[in-house]
Order: sequence, then structure tokens, then C-alpha cells
Amino acid sequence: MRKGNIVAGLDIGTSQVRLIVGELDPDGSVNIIGVGTSPSPGMKKGVIVDLDQTVEAINRAVSEAERMVGMSIDSTYVGLVGTQVNLINNRGVVAVTAEDKEIRDEDVERVLQATKVLALPSDREIIDIMPREFVVDGYDGIKDPVGMLGVRLEVDALIITGAITALRNLTRCVTRAELEIDGLILNAVASAEVILSSDERELGVCLVDIGAGTTEIAFFRQGTLQDLSVLPIGGDHITNDLSVGLRTTFDNAEELKIEHGYALSSMAFTEKKIQIKSIGRKEPHFISENDISQFIEPRVQELLQLVAKEIDKMSGGESPPAGVVFTGGVSLLNGLVEMAEGMFSTSVRISQPDYIGVQSPAYSTAVGLIRYIQRHGAVNVQKKPKARGVFQSLWIRVRNWFVELLD
Ligand SMILES: Nc1ncnc2c1ncn2[C@@H]1O[C@H](COP(=O)(O)OP(=O)(O)OP(=O)(O)O)[C@@H](O)[C@H]1O
Ligand SMILES: [Mg+2]
Repeated sequence: MRKGNIVAGLDIGTSQVRLIVGELDPDGSVNIIGVGTSPSPGMKKGVIVDLDQTVEAINRAVSEAERMVGMSIDSTYVGLVGTQVNLINNRGVVAVTAEDKEIRDEDVERVLQATKVLALPSDREIIDIMPREFVVDGYDGIKDPVGMLGVRLEVDALIITGAITALRNLTRCVTRAELEIDGLILNAVASAEVILSSDERELGVCLVDIGAGTTEIAFFRQGTLQDLSVLPIGGDHITNDLSVGLRTTFDNAEELKIEHGYALSSMAFTEKKIQIKSIGRKEPHFISENDISQFIEPRVQELLQLVAKEIDKMSGGESPPAGVVFTGGVSLLNGLVEMAEGMFSTSVRISQPDYIGVQSPAYSTAVGLIRYIQRHGAVNVQKKPKARGVFQSLWIRVRNWFVELLD
């Protein structure tokens, strides 16, 4: 096992912290060799509310993964929730400098730098620049201009900015857990690498990740991220409604939801066979799956209506041609797809990573971080980053800004 091929991805979620260790094969495949998870009580709605508890949760996940791979993990890529993030479209223009007018990495680097000229509020920082397309002497739609001939190089890019304090809290938790940060990647961009096909992303697709505390909605078209929105609602809210409705503890309600809950109560059994203990009631009593689902249905319906509204905004009122793809733990809820099919006028499916040990939609982000590096970064980007392609140089830059941010 060569350490240079080993990459770690850290997803700090509201319900769980997950650390995945992947071995990147030179043939382009990924082996998942380590998985560590730990409950995440220091997070609420995708935001760190308790630094110490989050550091502890990261430590626990790291130790578990380390035991599995039999080596120490000293650095990781980290998923970034879209809550504190803004997307800005900007253009950059430069003249090609070489005498032979061949576009080189340096020109791409300069034109991307040119997009950074923005009036940003003092509490925000650029965390990533994603080139959407390059334009060479007026010809648009170019994905990688290096090696082409031209006089004028333009780029149409998506600038991702983040709230400095939220980023500092995130990075502080990771560094306090004695992990070096290799880079920050938007959760949705990472998940997309695992759960969306490149055809879907080209055509126009919406990724909807429903976690415990957040629902991230990302719209992809022409191969790249176009828009991102985060609703501060998720599975915890369903559980809360259930726990209030049945007058039972949150943990009991969580179990009932997972074992017996349906998004559509019409799909659930009406026989009263499930024993529950309500607060303030001495004797346990029996309820049906249908009773449970009566509390779940309105909350899920409300959530999906909000998702539909966001999708409408993002796609300009047209349904995404390649449909809506659900992931995140809540996508496992029985009947969710059936309910969504009735509400969205496009195809709906659930997707999850297809690797042994992490075959659950709850692992999409963490596995996606590894896939992203496999596809867009050098195999040994962790230790020896080399500026070769657009994305690789982008990584190094992101790292550099990041280091600046930490100073
Ligand atoms: N089989 C299931 N049926 C219904 N809900 C489920 C099921 N399995 C998991 N969940 C719910 O999924 C949620 C956890 O999902 P996930 O692990 O994707 O969240 P997270 O990444 O920790 O949180 P977030 O992304 O919001 O920060 C919890 O609310 C949990 O109850
Ligand atoms: Mg999540």
C-alpha cells in the first residue's frame, strides 16, 4: 500500500461524521479501504454548534478508519455544505502571452485569477473557482483551451464564496483533530461524481441530498454546477414531528421512522402491531405503520414542495430534462420516490455509491470526495501537487487561498 495513492474524504454531517479512505488506482478506479463513522452531536442543520464535540466526532471517525486501514491518516479532503456558500458568475479576459500564441497553463491560471476581481463583502472569501467554459478569440464552448492557438482568452466561471467565520470553524475542527486539509470541495459537487452520470449533468439534472439537518439542491447543466441551494430541513424534522405526535423520545421516534415509516401513508399497513411507549403513559400501547406515517407524510410533502420550488427557480420553470436524483439518508424513506413522482413532472430516482461497505445514500458525499480527486486531481495530489491540467492547478490554488485564510 503506497501512501501517495491514498486519499481521505471527510463529510461532517448533522447526524454522522464520516471519514472514507480510498486507494486510487492508476487505471482510474477507486478502492474504498477504510470507513470511519461517528455520531455528530456538535452539528445542527449543517452548522457547527459545538467545536469540541465536532472535534471528538472527527477523532472517533478517524480512529475507526485508521484501525481498518492499519496506517495513520494525517490529511483529508473536506466536504463543504452549501449553507454558507454563495455562487457568483463572473468572466475573465486576458491576452495570450506566448509569441507563438499557444495557450499554456499560465494563461489559464491568469484568466482564472482575472475572475477574482470582484467587490466582495469583508466577511466573505473566495473558496473555489469553477470554469464553466473558455472562449478563445470569440469561439465559445471550450472545456480545456491548453494547447490551442489564440490571441484572446476568456473564461466564464462560477465563483464560490464562503462566510469566513463558518469556514474558520470548519477548518479549526479539522486541524484540531490533527488532520491537515488537502482541500475543500462542495458537498454537492462531490456527491455528483458518484451519483450522477456525465450525460445527466450535460443534459440538465437536479441532485437533491436530504440529510438529517439539511436538504441540498444542486442543478447541473452542460456538465457543470449551475446553481445551489440549501434548505435547513431534513430527516431530524420528520423525527421531531413524529416524537411530538406520538409523545415519545426523539431516539424512539427515529427508530420508528426508519423501521416503519412511509412518506405516503396510503402505502403503510393499518394493523396495529407496533408496540410503543409514550411519555406520561405507563402502559406500552400498539400503533400501526399507518399511524406513524400520518405524522411523516405532511412533513415530507412540505419538504418536497419546497424542493420543487427551488428546482423551478433554478431551471427557469422547466423541469430538468434528466430528472431529479435523490440521495442522502432520507432518500431511504419508504415511499419517498412514489411521493416525489406524483409531485415532479420529470423522472425521479434514488442513487448511492456502488462500493462494498458504503452502499448507502448517506455515503454519497464522503465517497464523492474521493471520486472527485480521482477524476480531477493527481493521484498523489496529497503530497506532491503538480500543476498539469486546469483542475490540478485549480486545486493547488484553492489550497493556497486556504492557507492564506488560515493565517
Ligand atoms: N431507512 C431510512 N428511512 C428513513 N430515514 C432514514 C433512513 N435511514 C436514514 N434516515 C434518515 O436520514 C438522515 C441522515 O441522513 P444523512 O446521513 O445523509 O445526514 P447527514 O449527512 O448526517 O446530515 P446533513 O447532510 O443534513 O448535514 C436522518 O434523519 C435519518 O433518520
Ligand atoms: Mg449530508
